[in-house]
Amino acid sequence: MRVFTKSLLMAIAMSLPAGAASSADEFDGAIKARKAEMVLRAFYLGQLGAMAKGNVEYNAEAATGAANSLKILTQLDGKNMWPKGSDNAALGDKTEALPALWENFPKVIESVKALSAAADGMADAAGKDLASLQAAMGPVGQACGACHKQFRKKAE
Ligand code: HEC
Repeated sequence: MRVFTKSLLMAIAMSLPAGAASSADEFDGAIKARKAEMVLRAFYLGQLGAMAKGNVEYNAEAATGAANSLKILTQLDGKNMWPKGSDNAALGDKTEALPALWENFPKVIESVKALSAAADGMADAAGKDLASLQAAMGPVGQACGACHKQFRKKAE
């Protein structure tokens, strides 16, 4: 049974076009990691947004926790999360990252820095009071959106 399974898997592997199979595997970890980072960003920003909108009661401690976590997420080393060739033109549905991201590196850095500055602002503001948190929301949302607009495929 084991031998059979193994030879069946090998037959399947060999019938796949080599390039497609290996590039998908090669980039899998990096793509998962960057999406995970983005999902966490959205998680913490969502908590701050809910307070800013009044859907959740403002709580300085909770706001500080979320804002500090968001700030830490802007400090992760992302260098190896974006290997060349792991774009949506090459890999299709596996990723929403547009090839433009690899063609406009200075602009990407600008976007990264903009988010970093906005997240620092949020970390300073969130625990003060609701009005400060609300004022810090705009720059963070804009920083996420500006990068997505340039470098992420629009959700259909
Ligand atoms: C420097 C550019 C950049 C910034 C800044 C940025 N993102 Fe993203 N984001 C991307 C790219 C590119 C993708 C597509 C990644 C992929 O599919 O491989 C993405 C994908 C996502 C996704 C989808 C993840 C998934 O599971 O497919 C979410 C959610 C997200 N971003 C949230 C955020 C939030 C919230 C912020 C701000 C706090 C933010 N992003 C800031 C570039 C950015």
